Amino acid sequence: MIGNGAVGVRGTLDEFGRGQLAACTLAGLYDQVPGCWREPVNAPNPFLCRVWCDGTLVSPLSLKPRSHRQWIDLRHAVHRRETAYILPDGNEVTVEAARFLSVTDVHMGFANCRVKATRACRLTIEAGVDGAVWDLNGPHLTGFGASEGPDETLLLAAPTQEQGVPVAVALAWEEELSDGATPMNRATVVAKDGIFVRRQYSLRAEAACTVRRFVNFRFGDDASSAALAGARAARALGGEALFAASAARWAERWARSDVRIEGDDDAQLALRYSLYQLLIVAPEHTDRVSIPARGLSGQVYKGGVFWDTEMFMLPFFSHTQPEMARRLLHYRVHTLDGARRKAKEYGFRGAFYAWESQDTGDDACTLFNITDVFTGRPLRTYFRDKQVHISADVALAIWRYWKETGDDSLLREGGAEVILECARFYLSCTCYVPDRERYELRDVVGPDEYHERVDNNAFTSAMARETLAIARQTLAWLQTRQPELHEELIARLDYAGDIPRLDEVHARLHVPEPDAKTGVIEQFSGYHALEAASLAEVKARVLKANEYWGAGQGVAAHTQVIKQADTVLLLHLFPERYPAAVRRANWEFYEPRTEHGSSLSACIYALVAAGVGNTEWAYRYFLKTATIDLTGQSKQYVGTLYIGGTHPAANGGAWMAAVQGFGGLRVAAERIILEPQLPAHWRALEFRFQWHGDWFDVRVTPHEVRLAAAAGNVQQVEATIAGEHCVCAPGTVVVCGLNGGALHA
Ligand code: BGC
Repeated sequence: MIGNGAVGVRGTLDEFGRGQLAACTLAGLYDQVPGCWREPVNAPNPFLCRVWCDGTLVSPLSLKPRSHRQWIDLRHAVHRRETAYILPDGNEVTVEAARFLSVTDVHMGFANCRVKATRACRLTIEAGVDGAVWDLNGPHLTGFGASEGPDETLLLAAPTQEQGVPVAVALAWEEELSDGATPMNRATVVAKDGIFVRRQYSLRAEAACTVRRFVNFRFGDDASSAALAGARAARALGGEALFAASAARWAERWARSDVRIEGDDDAQLALRYSLYQLLIVAPEHTDRVSIPARGLSGQVYKGGVFWDTEMFMLPFFSHTQPEMARRLLHYRVHTLDGARRKAKEYGFRGAFYAWESQDTGDDACTLFNITDVFTGRPLRTYFRDKQVHISADVALAIWRYWKETGDDSLLREGGAEVILECARFYLSCTCYVPDRERYELRDVVGPDEYHERVDNNAFTSAMARETLAIARQTLAWLQTRQPELHEELIARLDYAGDIPRLDEVHARLHVPEPDAKTGVIEQFSGYHALEAASLAEVKARVLKANEYWGAGQGVAAHTQVIKQADTVLLLHLFPERYPAAVRRANWEFYEPRTEHGSSLSACIYALVAAGVGNTEWAYRYFLKTATIDLTGQSKQYVGTLYIGGTHPAANGGAWMAAVQGFGGLRVAAERIILEPQLPAHWRALEFRFQWHGDWFDVRVTPHEVRLAAAAGNVQQVEATIAGEHCVCAPGTVVVCGLNGGALHA
């Protein structure tokens, strides 16, 4: 895949179309075809390019290539391919192509295709904008208007079905012919859903022909004129200049984000690939969108933004590009009204964020979200109604962003309001249980979706309680630092009556604690009484591929087998509250019971394992999360529902496992903590991070940790490295020997 946060282009070949799942997914534009799921719109594909040689279609769809190589230049975010064929008449034809999307102007993209042949031949190249793209619940664009400009430009435009939003894709053509290549005919082909230029060339032996396309994606008012103007402007700029600008921006991104591993090339590649996946889907251009669970790799999960972003991707961004983290969190500010509407719909107050959030923040998650493979009937699932931890995930992310970056603008610009409204939601959905003299959070779904409608899920209750504490601290901060805003919010939200209740419910909300003997925290009330069947036993009960394990009747629902990290996630989030022995006991208890049926699971098991010194297991789970989209083994179906695509949460988890797990980085409001635990075969790990606006470089080897503060830093920071306290002034390096070595600066 390539992407720039505004558009994601799947890694299909140039000659591929709808049948081969070609798609250019637009960020932030959703559409609903009557009776189907609302999902992101796939724009017409301007990268389509087909080649014929003496009448033979030169494509792997019709010929077996002699060789084929397809790769991503991760450094510059360019998709490349090189395919060679020997045609029936003996002519050797090679097709080389590259494409990228600009990150400096996110509407722009570029593609080229170079064809050369060893023998004289007649070459036909057809390129244009193809509206026949892959859709899950489409078609979203119908009634295409196609036009051609006098200056070798093409335009294909159509309105979306639901709201009639104009979508336009333009292309400006340029060609380069080597000696021995002569242009012949030219024709424009206008189809029902596409417009193409078809050109013929006469090639002498060993001659080559290159076709370049400058493309532009737009939606909204004036989409067509903007797309055409954009494509022309890109062509005027030229491919090299366009590439140079985008590559320079990518160089900056990598300079901030790269994590280097010495001694393990496979892990290095998988980790960089993960970071690349995060960077191609992160919105540079707007704070009105966030990152969907499958990034921009298609329409899976309705292009919905889940808790995945806040809990699994945000740490990477807030440590390496806080302005991106800020944009992602602003999306939750913009969608606060949707969360309010959802709370109201369920009879609650405050903000109940969508489980699957789209442009307005209203919930796209359906009540019958999965189809039963046995009966073909929709299964009632409670993700939408009961996965109430989502609001706490949002509140905690906003709070941690502030603590980690020191940037209070987000709190001022709606973040504080989001926190208060999320806390109010928990005030209204916890219930007081008089016999136990406590509040409880009942009838919820925790992260482990196989056990629905449970009471006192430790993770959910702890997160709700945390949200109440955060709201209390937010109010205190507002009162001292932003008294006017404080007053305005209390009045506008009519919050005065809720303030005492924040303390009351916080003090008495039941959160399951570690068992005094075993240290194990019961995932929810009654979990221990469920059948203690092993994972292997539960798997053996599966009758049909892709059958769903939860929804009340599934094979896991009555057992202790869980879908993904749940209690263990709690330990990862608040390690300081749970001693290492408790973390270890829970990891050991839940690990054999976890199916890892979600891509969000492995990284958390890696992190908690690293935190208790079990680097061997941490490494296994790190590799699992970092290679999620490299092995081809990720889950493709749940029931009859296709769920394939990229997994940015697992990619974010790879960064967390490397930097926070093996690097042992934790940033508190007042200090930096490094407790490294390298896998035995790693010779070194290097990463950068930003803390309160200052940059730090870390290098960990089996023998020492170096923390270097950039010369331009403004603060002298306190750090704890492998248990030793030290101070790191701007432009200095602190070196701490591991295994009892002394500190020296
Ligand atoms: C997981 C959720 C996750 C969603 C999207 C589900 O399978 O259980 O926790 O948010 O996928 O990644």
